[in-house]
Amino acid sequence: MSEFDRLRAETSAAIDAAADAAALEVVRVGALGRKGTVTELMKNLGSMDAEARRSFGAQVNALKDELTQRIESRRAVLADAALSQRLASETIDLSLPARPEPQGRIHPISQTIDEIIAIFGEMGFSVAEGPDIEDDFHNFTALNFPVGHPARDMHDTFYLPDGPNGQMLLRTHTSPVQVRTMMSVTPPIRVIIPGRTYRSDSDQTHTPMFHQVEGLVIDEKTHMGHLKGCLTEFAQAYFEVDHVPIRFRPSFFPFTEPSAEVDIGCSRKGGELKIGAGDDWLEILGSGMVHPNVLRHCGVDPERYQGFAFGMGIERIAMLKYGIPDLRTFFDADLRWLRHYGFAALDIPSLLTGLAR
Ligand code: PHE
Repeated sequence: MSEFDRLRAETSAAIDAAADAAALEVVRVGALGRKGTVTELMKNLGSMDAEARRSFGAQVNALKDELTQRIESRRAVLADAALSQRLASETIDLSLPARPEPQGRIHPISQTIDEIIAIFGEMGFSVAEGPDIEDDFHNFTALNFPVGHPARDMHDTFYLPDGPNGQMLLRTHTSPVQVRTMMSVTPPIRVIIPGRTYRSDSDQTHTPMFHQVEGLVIDEKTHMGHLKGCLTEFAQAYFEVDHVPIRFRPSFFPFTEPSAEVDIGCSRKGGELKIGAGDDWLEILGSGMVHPNVLRHCGVDPERYQGFAFGMGIERIAMLKYGIPDLRTFFDADLRWLRHYGFAALDIPSLLTGLAR
């Protein structure tokens, strides 16, 4: 094999074996660079006569041209392959959702509170809040539970150890925030007060911590009819039915007079609870006209102002609407439960777009 054939074969093999542009460049310099194997051949020219020089020079040039061409076509193949590989690795799957579904779920209690706020917000109520740790005055005395009154015993109160502000307790209802609101705001007042409440009670239908939403309206001519209209409106919006039968049953609370417990009509046929149909009743809240003594304790003139209040159990109405059978599961912090009963994080309840999706 001639020197030319050997160089052609070796260099061609090296070109074909070059795996990328950098390796190919090494091969090129090794053959055609200033000190490359092919370039070195030219050094033989000096010892040749004119005839031999011409034919040798032509052969070297032909080999150079041939190898340059091989290198160029190899370079094109490698560039093509690199581009294809890059395109494959940067593929975007356009069928994927632009924004992945958020992993977390909204707890049914938070969802229900948001729904309640959306409905009463539309009616012109604003949201007020108060502390979970209360004193006796706000939780009881100002609400017309005199010291030693037996109605206090109905509340299974958690008392805290005596502290610098006297005996504190975990509020047994959201009604103390009625007191705080009336003491700090001049009527007209229209607020709802969602929050945690505590009673030392635990069985299938009671947990020591639960949630209530309080409603309070104080104005000059507010009466029972407004209470009834307001709650009817709420029940229809919340349960998303056109007609909900509502029943007011006489009751007793120290801080309202008259007082009423409110039931909504339902059916329990075949073990399935249906709101707004049938001839059965289900209690959902306590309510009444704010007692003049409470107004007086809060510095509101009962000769000029009157109004109504109500207190509703949030777990209760969440269980009813969403078919959650057991109260205690709300607070088990079981992720499987939350995935099942929870709500999508970015769906804010509103009467315009729908309360729950
Ligand atoms: N605070 C009462 C309870 O917890 C409910 C209620 C609120 C009743 C407001 C009347 C008016 O049972």
